Amino acid sequence: MQCAPASAVLATKLSKASRAQRWEVDEELDWPASIDDDAWCTSPELVSIAGTDLWASLDEPTRVRVARFEAGNFFSLTLQGERPLVAGMSDLLYSTRISPEATEYIHHFIDEENKHMAMFGRFCRTYIGKVYPEKKVNLPRRYASGERIVAMFCKIMVVEEVGDYYNVLMQADTRLPRIVREIHRVHHRDESRHIGFGRSLMRELWATYASGWSVAERAGFQAWLANYMKSSWGDFYNPSVYRDAGLDRGPDGVDPYALRREAIESPQAVELRARASRRLIGFFLREGLLEEAPSM
Ligand SMILES: [Fe+2]
Ligand SMILES: [Fe+2]
Repeated sequence: MQCAPASAVLATKLSKASRAQRWEVDEELDWPASIDDDAWCTSPELVSIAGTDLWASLDEPTRVRVARFEAGNFFSLTLQGERPLVAGMSDLLYSTRISPEATEYIHHFIDEENKHMAMFGRFCRTYIGKVYPEKKVNLPRRYASGERIVAMFCKIMVVEEVGDYYNVLMQADTRLPRIVREIHRVHHRDESRHIGFGRSLMRELWATYASGWSVAERAGFQAWLANYMKSSWGDFYNPSVYRDAGLDRGPDGVDPYALRREAIESPQAVELRARASRRLIGFFLREGLLEEAPSM
């Protein structure tokens, strides 16, 4: 008798945990009608422009205002990242490429991601007035055998593992209002299961498919992955946020695109990206999805 793959054994445990921790967006969270104007919605050191000269020159109310729109951007980019992943995961349900146990867990995964999107969407619409649109453009490309599914799980891992770095820090930051901390907490709780599942399934998918790729196909995939990670980080630096916070107005107004470039290049931001990506890059290197660590 063939023994179940490790991801199937894990999926059974995770389904059980998901059932035990089932929650609803309206019940789990206590949604206030508004958030005080002087409340930090993003930890100040995690604000995208925190390493720039401009940030150093801003007064506290302006910084707090930027931090509010930054929260809107972070929740929007997570929501926008999760949207296509739910579609990709739905396509996998009952596929022979995964175990029945994995299919069962993916039902929970989709259920939880749907709630995350509703939770992020509600935050953004209620306290920011909008959801920031998706920036990524999906260029058509040719895939090696199995590469599409491997790439999809890589995308899932990038949005989940990088986002989780922020969730873990901000769920515990008492400077933030309760609703913000709770969103990070609830998201982290579900994501720790998703991340475990993603890693386990990824190992098997990689072993199954990548062994059949040519040297050129493998190199092409690795280049794509490094670029994908980099471009995902680009979404954290959103000129619309800087405009919405009013940084382009008045006599000291700045060009939001120039500010974006300065923020991306600031040593503080480079260090933050390296720190937040370290765990995931380590996994990709160990498993062979990357050959060398890309600079973020
Ligand atoms: Fe999520
Ligand atoms: Fe997730």
